[in-house]
Amino acid sequence: MTKAPPEIGRSRTTRPISNKVQCVKHHQRTLSPLPFFSFKVLPIYILATCVIFFALLHIQYSFQSPPSASPSPSWSLTYQWQRIINTTAVSSSTDCTDDLKSMSDKLRYSVTFLPLKDLRYTQTAIQGHTWFMSSMYDTHEEGEVQYQQFPSAASRGMLLCLKGRDKHDGSWNSYALAWPETLPFNATLMKDLTFVSYNHYNYDNIWHGLSAMVPFVAWHKKNGCETPARWVLYHWGELRLKMGQWLTTLMEATYDGPPYVEVFEGIGDDKPVCFEKAVVMRHNEGGMSRDRRMEAYDLMRCKARVYCNASLKGRGAEVNDQGVPVIGMTMFMRTGPRSFRNETAVIRIFERECAKVDGCRLIVGYSNNLSFCEQVKLMSLTDILVSPHGAQLTNMFLMDRNSSVMEFFPKGWLKLAGVGQYVFHWIASWSGMRHEGAWRDPDGEKCPYPEDDRRCMNIFKSGKIGYNETYFSVWARNVLNEVKARKLEEASKNSNASSTSSSCSCG
Ligand SMILES: *[C@@H]1O[C@H](CO)[C@@H](O)[C@H](O)[C@H]1NC(C)=O
Ligand SMILES: *[C@@H]1O[C@H](CO)[C@@H](O)[C@H](O)[C@H]1NC(C)=O
Ligand SMILES: *[C@@H]1O[C@H](CO)[C@@H](O)[C@H](O)[C@H]1NC(C)=O
Ligand SMILES: *[C@@H]1O[C@H](CO)[C@@H](O)[C@H](O)[C@H]1NC(C)=O
Ligand SMILES: *[C@@H]1O[C@H](CO)[C@@H](O)[C@H](O)[C@H]1NC(C)=O
Ligand SMILES: *[C@@H]1O[C@H](CO)[C@@H](O)[C@H](O)[C@H]1NC(C)=O
Ligand SMILES: *[C@@H]1O[C@H](CO)[C@@H](O)[C@H](O)[C@H]1NC(C)=O
Ligand SMILES: *[C@@H]1O[C@H](CO)[C@@H](O)[C@H](O)[C@H]1NC(C)=O
Repeated sequence: MTKAPPEIGRSRTTRPISNKVQCVKHHQRTLSPLPFFSFKVLPIYILATCVIFFALLHIQYSFQSPPSASPSPSWSLTYQWQRIINTTAVSSSTDCTDDLKSMSDKLRYSVTFLPLKDLRYTQTAIQGHTWFMSSMYDTHEEGEVQYQQFPSAASRGMLLCLKGRDKHDGSWNSYALAWPETLPFNATLMKDLTFVSYNHYNYDNIWHGLSAMVPFVAWHKKNGCETPARWVLYHWGELRLKMGQWLTTLMEATYDGPPYVEVFEGIGDDKPVCFEKAVVMRHNEGGMSRDRRMEAYDLMRCKARVYCNASLKGRGAEVNDQGVPVIGMTMFMRTGPRSFRNETAVIRIFERECAKVDGCRLIVGYSNNLSFCEQVKLMSLTDILVSPHGAQLTNMFLMDRNSSVMEFFPKGWLKLAGVGQYVFHWIASWSGMRHEGAWRDPDGEKCPYPEDDRRCMNIFKSGKIGYNETYFSVWARNVLNEVKARKLEEASKNSNASSTSSSCSCG
């Protein structure tokens, strides 16, 4: 869980606003040979105001001292400017300060907060701009992650500010952009990098949680392993205070330290918080090429194995007493919904097929009572994952690349469960695994309505899974033979291709 934040990185500092300092800085900068081109700290119209101010003063000055009184004919433009500036600095620094202060106060008052959840997009909550920060555009290069970064050229140097503590209705939370010199009144500035995550589902289910994290991992990898000082988690614009344990540990492994989830403790309800540097993700892996996704999963796999002291050698390195490559076949069981109705019978089938193949080793594990690291270690021993449809299958990305997955569904899912039933086909593809197909139970719970009636899904979704001995045997045999052939081929090449240690680094 979250602990109190360590001092420096995420210490909160209310920003001191000193317009006097800005004004003086302005004069000093103007003395450089190309005064107006290097100037970019304050908004252009403050500059314009001061330029007009100088110009007026210049005219006045020229009237008071005619050209004949000028010191020498070599009156350069620079000299002229210096005089103007010197004069201005001495005689009117107070006026300029007042001007700047009034202007920056106006900017500070004009920071406009919009609802984090835009109800106009309720029907298209996860499409296009999404209903989260709907006025903003993402930065998106072909094949890369879609993200927003503040400050950036796209934000014209503005920071992201949030008033976002509501846990029940995202339309009560709001966001705004502000220049660092003119943050809204009473704003708290949070230092260093902040990750702001939008998740349409939740941070507890390991599949939905992981989907929200992948783009941050890709960004982290692309930006020299830059690590966030804090996370701000939203679901439908509502603040979330934690991630599930599995996800927390995966993030701890990936970023070399426990994630700190910001809850805005001690900050008044309507007080804004602004972030020195923020990265916002609201499209999960959307837009990322397969290679980019694989790199992100490679990094998490490698980091998780290091964190859990699991082997980095890769499956290619394990051989049995006879020097035959070991094929790890793991049955990852569920209890309750979508478990096998007769587990013993199913295990017996796979045991029998495994025993027929030289080097095959069967492990039966239960997802409900394995810690994160036990799951990481189990996956590092697995070439073939045999498991019913369910969140535990998310662990598949922790196997070596090119490993195999066999999935099982209860009755009724094909017609009624929608595209969501294919998520483990997707993650297999994204993380470089081979999805070897799915078995769909033709028999199961009885439904009082016609079988394609949507109401039946309530009954089918938690159904148990039976078995077909003939089908399972043939299927297991085919997958085992395929994996065996691949292993022998790899062994003959004597390569350490599947070693993962190199993918732990960034850049
Ligand atoms: C402006 O002030 C600087 C330093 O105060 C001085 O060196 C320079 O001669 C002044 N220029 C003019 C034109 O008065
Ligand atoms: C800043 O906060 C104080 C105390 O909560 C409040 O009295 C004041 O009006 C706030 N200032 C602005 C500009 O909102
Ligand atoms: C990994 O090994 C190190 C040193 O041997 C130990 O301190 C650490 O607790 C181990 N981590 C896990 C997760 O087992
Ligand atoms: C499970 O299957 C085995 C083998 O087919 C059978 O002997 C056993 O009775 C079954 N158990 C249940 C609870 O149906
Ligand atoms: C894990 O859970 C399974 C199923 O509930 C149970 O059979 C097994 O004994 C448990 N193992 C441990 C180590 O608690
Ligand atoms: C079991 O699978 C086999 C092979 O796919 C098929 O021919 C057979 O009809 C199935 N049996 C049942 C009871 O569905
Ligand atoms: C493969 O890795 C092992 C152990 O890390 C090493 O001893 C061996 O030389 C490597 N083989 C090749 C071909 O790189
Ligand atoms: C996975 O398999 C493909 C095609 O067989 C091969 O080109 C690739 O090198 C393999 N990847 C790893 C990491 O072993």
